[in-house]
Amino acid sequence: MTTEIARRIESLIAQMTLSEKLGQLTMLAASLVETGPPGPHNPATMVREGRAGSILNTWGAKEIREAQRVAMEETRLKIPLFFAVDVLHGHRTIYPIPLAEACAFDRALWQRTAQEAAEEATRDGIQMTFAPMLDVSRDPRWGRICECAGEDGFINAEYAKAKVIGFQNAPAQPERRLAAVAKHFVAYGAVNAGRDYAEVDVSQRALEEIYLPPFQAAVEAGVLGIMPSFTDVAGVAMTAHKPLLDDLLRQQWGFEGVIISDYNAIAELIPHGVAADLTEAATLALKAGVDIDMMAGAYEQGLPVALERGAVSMDEIDRAVRRVLKLKFALGLFDNPLRGLEDISPTPDSDPSRRASARDAARRSIVLLENRDQFLPWTKAPQNIAVVGPLADAPSELMGAWCMAGEIDETVGILSGMRTAFTGSTITHAAGGDIETGDAQAIAEAVHVTQAADAVVLCIGESRHISGEAASRTKPAPPDSQLELARAIVATGKPLLLILVGGRPFVLPQWLIDGSQAIIAAWFPGTEAGNAIADIIKGAWNPSARLAISWPVEVGQIPIYYSLRTTGRPNDPKNGFSTCFLDAPITPRWSFGEGLSYTRYDLSDAQVSATTIERDGALDVSIDITNAGKMDGETTIFLFIRDPVAQVTRPALELKDFQNVALAAGARQRVAFKLHASQLAYPGMDLAPRLDSGRIEIHVGTSSRPCDLKRVDIEVRV
Ligand code: NOJ
Repeated sequence: MTTEIARRIESLIAQMTLSEKLGQLTMLAASLVETGPPGPHNPATMVREGRAGSILNTWGAKEIREAQRVAMEETRLKIPLFFAVDVLHGHRTIYPIPLAEACAFDRALWQRTAQEAAEEATRDGIQMTFAPMLDVSRDPRWGRICECAGEDGFINAEYAKAKVIGFQNAPAQPERRLAAVAKHFVAYGAVNAGRDYAEVDVSQRALEEIYLPPFQAAVEAGVLGIMPSFTDVAGVAMTAHKPLLDDLLRQQWGFEGVIISDYNAIAELIPHGVAADLTEAATLALKAGVDIDMMAGAYEQGLPVALERGAVSMDEIDRAVRRVLKLKFALGLFDNPLRGLEDISPTPDSDPSRRASARDAARRSIVLLENRDQFLPWTKAPQNIAVVGPLADAPSELMGAWCMAGEIDETVGILSGMRTAFTGSTITHAAGGDIETGDAQAIAEAVHVTQAADAVVLCIGESRHISGEAASRTKPAPPDSQLELARAIVATGKPLLLILVGGRPFVLPQWLIDGSQAIIAAWFPGTEAGNAIADIIKGAWNPSARLAISWPVEVGQIPIYYSLRTTGRPNDPKNGFSTCFLDAPITPRWSFGEGLSYTRYDLSDAQVSATTIERDGALDVSIDITNAGKMDGETTIFLFIRDPVAQVTRPALELKDFQNVALAAGARQRVAFKLHASQLAYPGMDLAPRLDSGRIEIHVGTSSRPCDLKRVDIEVRV
């Protein structure tokens, strides 16, 4: 920040009334053009009186121009507003949901889609996104699992960096840069039983090892905002968590941006049971370091009383105001309040490269889970194809949880994508019922259509409304009515391609897996959904995605993830007193990193450039990968470690790096990773980073399953 800007900020603060200061700390959700009922809480009145500093969930030329005009022309101090929206996986062009995009294991892709979203969103008047969402989760019951980058802390950290750079730094023109807000700080993904908004009780070690690193990565990448989660952590409500917000984030990590509460979260300190009224709630949040009150009205109503009582000081209020004004200067709003806003909202078609990019992102995110007897690809397609299921012709559902500006009629459904791709086949369709309710008549029709076809594409799963926020489900699976439909379709005996749409791993019945020749996890692929799915089916794209999250066999296995610790009684099928379930396997249905391709990748000759490593040392780990099949392809190689003897128990495998490789059929390539000694350190008994002398196992390969990994050992000497 230049001294000139610092001077302007101080001069503004000196002129502000208390009400105007609290206005800067207040974020409203409202359309200002349709002003709603008159009165003191009317949004337009609040902006005009300088009682609101930022607006949530508003975009488009008409609304933004009018609101900013009021702020710049009708307020006393002429401080611009900023506008914030949840742009998680695209603005108008919708990309795959984060959990899907994570499966591409492609940093460049993660950055590119964020950059494109930033360019679209800023053209539409938005200057801040509440993204990236970095809540590592291992619980498919939690609806919000669709918003994160999967079960692994390292992946979420890599994803965080790519997204922050993509939103904030990558766009060439300053007015196309979108301020990112990393959320939800912290461990929201560990809500009890996967129930949204429930309590969180994780250890300090789990915070250090799993949940904090993605946020630290975001801070190091320069993220401009952080949003605390709705939940508590071990009894301390995150919106009032001074040790984690002010002490850790600000003092230790040096975070200089703004902290924005979640929606109404300051007022929710009352039902949390840590504040008696709005005054106490506002006091706790301000003192913890929360700068902006989103939609609780707690700062406006509570802080004047708190100030009078001496519970907060004017200095504490000024500090928060200073950070908000600094953000507005950083966004260039004082000099350019409309910041590149265009009169026409961008559409995916207005820049065809964006549609192509969304299609590329989608096909890189779709995971091929099963493919018996090379059922796919359909290079020579069946003559008569039945495309059935309630998600076959449901384009709006394919956009996923956050698609605020996404348009249904710009989205390609599965049926439509199939019709475009397979012009030589006759394609018939029956929905077989609604997404959440079945009906015998609809099922009978779907069976009839299937019986007349040579093969069936069964599209089942979730609507976007039963995935995402406030969408926890005890049965992470297609709703029962759809399973009934599936049973009837399986019973026809027709060759079956199962397409699973949804925002979480599903627990699938064995009969459905056995009855499907091929299974595709399509997730929510976005605007280009149908085309991307058809690309995979046809073989126009060789599937390259791998699971960023384990798929359980049974709900009772949850939480299940690749980096579980081995325990003192590691699973041993010959020993009944080893860790196991009596009624289910201990391994997931599909593990982290699994994902099929139409080719085969062979790994050989894993090597290290040195067998010992010292405290500040580094070495190269390399492996040969051969495309042993007949089709060009891309894949991911993972580098895991295992520390067999440490001061505290360590995970069975820990991911340290990954790389994408593109290989023509028959080609071989040597893939190399640089491994630094610092990557082998872990939080010791006292949680301070520790590096011990001794053996470290390195496991390199295409998934976390032992059969997909090659091992080589090194010795740490410190
Ligand atoms: C509540 C959600 O928890 C948060 O992720 C989102 O950014 C806000 N609402 C604003 O829409």
